[in-house]
Formats: sequence, structure tokens, C-alpha cells
Amino acid sequence: ISSALGNMLRDEWIGRIGLTFLIHRSFSLVLVGIHVLYFFWAFKYTLRRSHVNLWSQILMILILFEIATGVAMAYFGIPAFLQPIHLLFGTLIIGVQVLLLLEIRENIQFRLNTN
Ligand code: HEM
Repeated sequence: ISSALGNMLRDEWIGRIGLTFLIHRSFSLVLVGIHVLYFFWAFKYTLRRSHVNLWSQILMILILFEIATGVAMAYFGIPAFLQPIHLLFGTLIIGVQVLLLLEIRENIQFRLNTN
């Protein structure tokens, strides 16, 4: 779309994407739902100052920033500076999720070995 419009008329890009964009936008609500459930689980079962607790909070903040930058792009004609920021938050989210998976797995193995 960007090339077809000569990298101009940014306000029109989203309207031309169609269903793909609606799926992208709406699926973020599913992601928020899953992460809110996870967050309450982590808050309930981990110590307040533990790594898992801290990184879970960071993960929630990253998801909120991801959605905020996405919404800002959608409403303000995809400002160029927000494109790499949206991608950066997306990659950081995956990084923190992997970190949490490793940390939680290690905690579970530690508990199994000590019991
Ligand atoms: C947790 C939620 C989200 C994640 C993980 C996410 C992730 C991504 C990723 C990886 C891209 C790049 C796609 C590509 O280059 O092919 C992208 C692009 C985009 N996203 Fe999201 N997104 C999220 C939520 C949203 C929301 C809520 C909106 C708007 C309401 C939005 C609007 C956009 C727009 C307009 C683009 C195109 C910008 C560009 O290509 O540089 N995103 N998103």
C-alpha cells in the first residue's frame, strides 16, 4: 500500500488494509485478556520482590505501551516514528515472555528437586 501510494497519504493506509487490520487490532484484546489472567496468577503465586513478579509487571507495561503505540498509529495516520517503536515493544514482549518461561521452569524444577 505504501509503495502504491508513493509512500504518501499515510492517513489512507489503514483503511486500505481491511480485515487483516481488524484482526490485528482485535486480537490485541485477546492478548490482554490472557496476560491479565497470567498476571493475577503470577501475583498470587510469587513473592513480591521475586524476578518473576518484577518481570511480569514489566511485561504488562510493555503490552500497554504496544497497544498505545498501535492505537496512536491507527488514529494519527501511522506517524513514521511510531513504526519502529511499535516493533521494538513487540520484540521486547517476546523477549520478556521467553525470560519468564525459563525463570518459571527453573523455579518449578528447583521445587521438585527440594521436595
Ligand atoms: C499486543 C498487541 C500488539 C502486538 C504484539 C502488535 C504487533 C505488531 C507487529 C509485529 C507489527 C509489524 C507487522 C509488519 O511489519 O508486518 C505491527 C504493525 C502494526 N500494528 Fe500492531 N500490535 C499490537 C497491537 C496493535 C493495536 C491495538 C493496533 C491499533 C489499534 C496496532 C496497529 C498496528 C499498525 C497500524 C501497524 C502497521 C505499522 C507498520 O507496519 O509499521 N497494533 N503490530
